[in-house]
Order: sequence, then structure tokens, then C-alpha cells
Amino acid sequence: LCNLKEVKVLKTSAIILAAGLGTRMNSELPKVMHKIAGRPMLLYLLDTLSELELEKVVLVLGPNMEQVIDFVADSGFKVDIVIQDERLGTGHAVKQAKKNFSGYKGNIVVLYGDSPLIGTNTIKKMINTRNETINPALVVLGFSPNDVSGYGRLMLDKPNSVEKIVEEKDATKDELANRLCNSGIIIADGEILFELIEELSCENSKKEFYLTDVVGIARARGRECLVVEGTETELMGINSRAELAVAETITQNYLRQAAMEKGATLIDPSSVYFSYDTIVGRDVVIGPSVFFGPKVRVSDGVEIKAFCHLEGTTINKNCTVGPFARLRPGSNISEDVHIGNFVEIKNASLGRGVKVNHLSYLGDAKIGERTNIGAGTITCNYDGYKKSETVIGSQSFIGSNTALVAPVVVGNNAIIGAGSVITKDVKDNALSLTRAEQKDISNYGSKLERMRKRN
Ligand code: UD1
Ligand code: CA
Repeated sequence: LCNLKEVKVLKTSAIILAAGLGTRMNSELPKVMHKIAGRPMLLYLLDTLSELELEKVVLVLGPNMEQVIDFVADSGFKVDIVIQDERLGTGHAVKQAKKNFSGYKGNIVVLYGDSPLIGTNTIKKMINTRNETINPALVVLGFSPNDVSGYGRLMLDKPNSVEKIVEEKDATKDELANRLCNSGIIIADGEILFELIEELSCENSKKEFYLTDVVGIARARGRECLVVEGTETELMGINSRAELAVAETITQNYLRQAAMEKGATLIDPSSVYFSYDTIVGRDVVIGPSVFFGPKVRVSDGVEIKAFCHLEGTTINKNCTVGPFARLRPGSNISEDVHIGNFVEIKNASLGRGVKVNHLSYLGDAKIGERTNIGAGTITCNYDGYKKSETVIGSQSFIGSNTALVAPVVVGNNAIIGAGSVITKDVKDNALSLTRAEQKDISNYGSKLERMRKRN
């Protein structure tokens, strides 16, 4: 991995194969759209490739994958899409990109859409090996997983030199004993890749044109094929929901580690779930069983207690949240705010020092600095037809069990009596309450007692 920067520069392009049906996922959704840590698999690959300054990226899709096409268009990545009308194998899939590379001289990395966790450095290592003076036709990325089942095997005849790749279904017993597996990722000499592919045959157990057979063909032409090895955690293939769950665990472990390295304490790391884009500051403490959906940013010194669910939320310094709080998209929490148990916040901004400690819903609201929201306060933001806003000034006190019927504005330094239903604006410094007057009937208790005795 050293000397990465001093590589002989040879331009590189990529082809991502994602036309397969993903049958074992048993899903309406194309496989590459299934999410890991909240982000579709495909985006992991596009993101990794974007760090490599490639010449071009071609994505091979199957018919009826409009959803993926739209998604790629929205992602902002520059990708050429080609359609493989019939799924005749990984070799046939690469062939669909031939017209995108006419006259091309340089490397072509072929990646599989269902192996999305590969890192930039591993691809760089392959590019380096490919650029070595012996000019290998191909560099194949191998790995030795714990469970080798389902993977093709790399057959070496000299150190680092691959003679052929054998698919599991076509392998002999001896070949199956070899634990060095094919990750599917290759980097090839772009000038000859499509020539090699023209020579593929489909005489194998699946009756498919296997990309993996290009190794044997290149060797028959006297060209070298080298192997580079990677790890299971970045190269595992995702063919089923069970494998998707393994990829999720791998990714979560990575995200947990990264948060801890940046100075967050995770009391029980294995129970905290991050999104690929969660940002967590220093001296943040995260309790057990906290879930982060997309777009959450947590500043330094924040404590998130057990069993919170957060998405689309920004939390500024030194706040405490939870236990059992739900922060939904559009929540903007200023410094020193306390959000307690069973509080839900949606599309609301809370000013510095606000306290909302128990059993409340604040939706479509703006709350001024140091305002105290009593237990059970609800913003009634929806009238069955449209959403409306509640605005509360600073240093106000909202009594317990208040219903704020939006649209409504409560001023600064205002006090709302407990149990009120507020439908009209409340001025600065006013006390407002809507509760019915209390009636007392004396000696009612002893009357009741007599009635009970009589029966
Ligand atoms: C493939 C490899 C195997 C390797 C494993 C690594 C082949 C023949 N086998 O097996 O050696 O160990 O990946 O995970 O390459 N695809 C198309 N069009 C097709 C067929 C597949 O685009 O006609 C795409 C799929 O969407 C997928 C990728 O190619 O992203 C791999 O196909 P898949 O069927 O999953 O191959 P494996 O059996 O996993
Ligand atoms: Ca696969």
C-alpha cells in the first residue's frame, strides 16, 4: 500500500455489473437498491469510484430497472448506463459496454454491484499491480472467506499468478478444497478485454458466459494474470437477505468504530445503529439501543440516553436527549436543550436552553430560548387537512397538558396554565388559561360512605 502516489499513471475506467435478477433476495426492488446503513448498495460503489478520478463509469442494468436509472440521475454521479436485455452471464454483461470503449486504451475495472463494500485502497492496489512492468492482461481480486460456499475458486500455478477461475458448480473436488475465492472484481487491459470476451463460451453448468473464463483465455494467449488479495469484510457478495444482514453488521461495526475514534462514548456499541452519513462530535455519550436514521448531526458534549430514534436532526452542543425520545426530520435543536422521555419532535426548532422533559409532541413549531414546555404538551399541528405552525417566544412557561391549536403564537415571558387548550394568540408577559373553574362540594365523601353501607 505504500508508494500509492508514485504509480505509473495509466487511465482507468470502471464497469459495474448490476443486471442480475437478484433472485435470492426475493424482492420487487433491484438488488443494488437494497440499503446498507440507510444507503443503497450501489451508492457505496459510486462513492468509492468517485475518489479514483476515473475516465468513465459504465453501469450495466437489466430491463425494467427505471428506478435505478432515476436514482443514478438524482445521485449527481456521472455514469453511463447500458442495458443487458438478456441475462446471459457476467461475461455477456461486460460485453454490453463494448461500444462505450471503442478505441479505449487504459485499465478497465469490473465490479459487481452486489459486492459494494470494497475500499478505494484495494482498487488502487490492483491498479498498481496492473501497471507493473510485466503488463499483466488482468489482475484478479481474491480473498479467503470463512465460508467459501457459492464463490468461484482462483487456481494458481505460480505464486501470485492465476491459471484459471473455476465456478463452484463446475469445480472438481480438489478444486473445491482450494479456499482462495474470486471476489468478482478484476482490472483488465482495456485494449484486449473485449477481445477476450468474444472468445467466451457458455459450455458450463449454468449455460452462461462467465466473465471469470477470461483468465484462462488470456493465459492461453500467453498473457499473465496476477492476483491481489483483500479481506472478506470488503469483498463479501450479497446474494440474499441473510448476506445483506451480514453486510449491515460489517458496516455498522465500521461506523461504530469511527464514531468512537472521533471521541464519542458508546456504552453498548453493538446496539447503536448509525446511518452512513451520521455525524457525531467529541465527548458525545450514546446510550444503549439508539438508532440514527439519515441526516443526523450531533455536536460536541451531547448525551443521547438509551432507546432514542433520530433522523433528519441537528443537535447542537451540550444537549441531553432521551431516554425514549424520537426526533424526526426537520428538528433543529440549539445548545443546552433538554429533551426527556417520550418526547417527539418533528420539523421544529428549539432555542438555546429549552426544556421539554416529558411526554410531549412538538411538530411544526418554533420555541424561543429558555422556554419550558410542561409534561404532556401537544402542538395540534394538523386539522385533518393541512399542517399549521406553533410559535412560542423565549422564557415562556407552558403548563402541563396544554394543547396548542395551530396556527397559534405565544409571546415571550408568557405563562399558560396547566390543562389549557390554546386557540388564540397569547401576548408577551400574559398568563393564559382556558381550564373550567374548579367546583368543590363539601362532605361528599362521607355521603358516599353512608350510601355504600346501606347496600
Ligand atoms: C460471481 C462470480 C464468482 C464470484 C462471485 C463473487 C461469475 C461467473 N461468478 O458469482 O466467481 O466468486 O461472483 O461474489 O462471474 N450480472 C449481470 N448480468 C448477468 C449476470 C450477472 O449484470 O447476466 C451481475 C449481477 O447483477 C451481480 C454480478 O453480475 O451484480 C454477479 O452475478 P451473480 O449472479 O451474483 O454471480 P455469483 O454467482 O455471485
Ligand atoms: Ca453475487
